[in-house]
Amino acid sequence: MATPFTRIIEADDSGIAEASELICAGQPVAVPTETVYGLAADATNAAAVARVYDAKGRPAFNPLIVHVSDYSTATMLGDLNDEARNLAAQYWPGPLTLVVPAKAGSGIASLVTAGLGTIGLRVPAHPAIRALLKATRRPLAAPSANSSGSISPTRAEHVLKSLGGRIPLILDGGPSQRGIESTIVAATGGGLRLLRRGPLEIDGLAASGGGQIEAPGMLASHYAPSKPLRLDVSEPNADEFLIGYGERRGECWLGAELVAAAAKLFDCLHHAEASDKPRIAVAPIPDHGLGAAINDRLARAATPR
Ligand code: TXA
Ligand code: MG
Repeated sequence: MATPFTRIIEADDSGIAEASELICAGQPVAVPTETVYGLAADATNAAAVARVYDAKGRPAFNPLIVHVSDYSTATMLGDLNDEARNLAAQYWPGPLTLVVPAKAGSGIASLVTAGLGTIGLRVPAHPAIRALLKATRRPLAAPSANSSGSISPTRAEHVLKSLGGRIPLILDGGPSQRGIESTIVAATGGGLRLLRRGPLEIDGLAASGGGQIEAPGMLASHYAPSKPLRLDVSEPNADEFLIGYGERRGECWLGAELVAAAAKLFDCLHHAEASDKPRIAVAPIPDHGLGAAINDRLARAATPR
């Protein structure tokens, strides 16, 4: 959403209160963390999460990290095995993100995890985002607060340069101490895997992950339905489950504008997967703004594996 004016305010009590109100109203707000500034939204509100992608101009839906206040909240959203629990005990609050199996029915919007069965969880240490978590009482989905393709911001002014006019508010908490994004470790099967290097040197992981780190956003585990999928369909065949857009309603309707469509995309794909129709068809979706990210994800889902 274009916001004509982006304000920067101190991350003090009144700043946190204002930011909390915006977030609870479904708006994204930039907030300092100890790694880099994040663009935070209510992780339980799909439209709010869609606005984060829209503001960043991300060409694709990468899963977002969900920030929570403490370990016990994390365990309500994901299943931490013993190894994950040990890392959490050692490094939370701090620059560690754990990718773990997501818990069903936790209320996290499917767009946050990009339809995957896993969730990235982090308990941040910075007082500003901790205060915001406390004030909103919601899990916050937050990618780095920069437009797609530019480097991560470590000061409020960096965020303004990158996202000015695209978000309503930036909380200023001074420079980020760490300056690089969190270390990401997956604990989804047996053993731990390093997905992204970061500020932490974790014993045993740096060596085994060397050179073989899965690039963020390029994960083989990207969600795709198991049924064949056809794009740009105006007239579906009888054996096709139609995902509709605009005038064309279909059996699951994405809505008539792009933020709403992004918010519903993965839910509709999951409905299509669960239906008794053997094939999926998707109505034409405009290829600009968030529509480009939607079409990118659908094109990948349509590629036979
Ligand atoms: O330090 C940080 O991690 C910052 C601050 C704001 O917390 N956030 C950040 O987010 O760097 P972002 O969106 O720029 O990077 C998130 C990356 C994704 O690209 C993806 O690789 C990984 O986290 N990720 C998140 N959830 C995942 C999941 N369920 N499975 C695999 N990877 C995941
Ligand atoms: Mg980033």
